[in-house]
Amino acid sequence: MKDLIITDAPEKEPERQLYFIEKCREWVREHYKDRKPTMNIKTFGCQMNAKDSEKIEGILSKIGFVGADDEKADFVLYNTCTVRENANLKVYGRLGHLKKVKEKNPDMLICLCGCMMQENEVIEKIRKSYRFVDIVFGTHNIFKVAELLYNRIVAKSQIIDIWKDTDMIVENLPSVRKYSFKAGVNIMYGCNNFCTYCIVPYVRGRERSRNPKDIICEIESLVKDGVVEVMLLGQNVNSYGKTLDEPMSFAELLEEVEKIEGLKRIRFMTSHPKDLSDDLIRVMKNSKKICNHLHLPLQSGSSDILKKMNRHYTKEQYLDLVKKIKENLPDISLTTDIIVGFPNETDQDIEETIDVIKQVEFDSAFTFVYSRRTGTPAAKIVDTVPESVVKERFDKVLKVVQNSSAINAKKLEGKTMEVLVEEQNDHDESLVTGRLSNNLLVHFKGNKELIGSLVNVKLNECKGFYYIGEMVY
Ligand code: 5AD
Ligand code: SF4
Repeated sequence: MKDLIITDAPEKEPERQLYFIEKCREWVREHYKDRKPTMNIKTFGCQMNAKDSEKIEGILSKIGFVGADDEKADFVLYNTCTVRENANLKVYGRLGHLKKVKEKNPDMLICLCGCMMQENEVIEKIRKSYRFVDIVFGTHNIFKVAELLYNRIVAKSQIIDIWKDTDMIVENLPSVRKYSFKAGVNIMYGCNNFCTYCIVPYVRGRERSRNPKDIICEIESLVKDGVVEVMLLGQNVNSYGKTLDEPMSFAELLEEVEKIEGLKRIRFMTSHPKDLSDDLIRVMKNSKKICNHLHLPLQSGSSDILKKMNRHYTKEQYLDLVKKIKENLPDISLTTDIIVGFPNETDQDIEETIDVIKQVEFDSAFTFVYSRRTGTPAAKIVDTVPESVVKERFDKVLKVVQNSSAINAKKLEGKTMEVLVEEQNDHDESLVTGRLSNNLLVHFKGNKELIGSLVNVKLNECKGFYYIGEMVY
């Protein structure tokens, strides 16, 4: 363990991590000799995790690892999610399989990180029953992956580093991008809302906004690099800027992002209805770049349940907000999240949710069965509703949601719209897939040289959740 005390490492970030990246590079050259070691990164959960994985991959690439498709790689990393219990179960299942792979290749390194690692009982379980895992870290210190890898190399034993919280935002470390033409950009981290069912505030910590200058700088350099669409990421983007030394609203940030020359499309996620301002609606209305899409999680249509969820709005307030949005942005595509089965939910509560879905006519909705998360206030409520009843209600809500999406999607049939070409079709190479401003996909004849460009496409036929179209010159 004496070797672990590294005296010449800088204290300041990002210099400290750049130092450890170099140390790991030297080790990689020595250890793997003439070959480039491989890495396999699996990401569970939301866009925040996807973005974190790009940062981790950026650092590991700098160290010398190259991407591999399967879990026989030299370095396997799971970036975990814990928002619902089945996300945790999936990770344990896969770890069982990895154990066998590692028995055949003891030199392989296994790393776990992300939201699930912020839970005490998970860490205890890993310490006790998953000794073959090499490196474990959480959501607050992903920037440290090089340092932790180096510690593991020197110590030759399991390294676990979990921070309870942080106010640190480390800028200017390497990152990679999955797509050359679009990118996610963090504008804030953490959440202060404490919805009673949700574990996110406990595993992602308190709300911290990134400095607007850093955000703009990052987007400018992305645009120089060929990016035309950005997705601004935060658990609750509508409360952006409140914690800054010089407070700035999300609407003001969007106005700054709009000014960036060469940037064509702006998306953002996620909006909390309680914080959605008139200013934001005005900025969206005047914008030429903000996409025609708003993800506005409803969670429940029952004011009673919403109160128990600590959502800070009623059914009527949600409906009023939607009315205002639609009046100002008539073509907006509205999507949402709905939880079915919150403890002691009644038939009447579900009817209220269905009523909201019918009134709003969401373009699409992610519908979840409530999952009890230890440590959250809702987990303490004694629930008397049988699972079979929840399942029935879930199916009922899903039908209404599907109906509403199908009606909405058809609305654009026959129109010509601008799409951003994203990829070549997996099944048919003569087709490409593009995304409309409202987030729907369209397949049409075209070659892969079109990827990354904005083209006009006539939406000939709606196939439910996507279109078949033709390019219009
Ligand atoms: N059970 C089910 N769904 C949940 N979500 C968050 N916590 C839970 C939970 N305990 C859903 C919410 C949120 C989305 C990202 O995940 O709908 O908006
Ligand atoms: Fe969870 Fe609510 Fe925060 Fe969203 S706003 S991350 S649902 S606590």
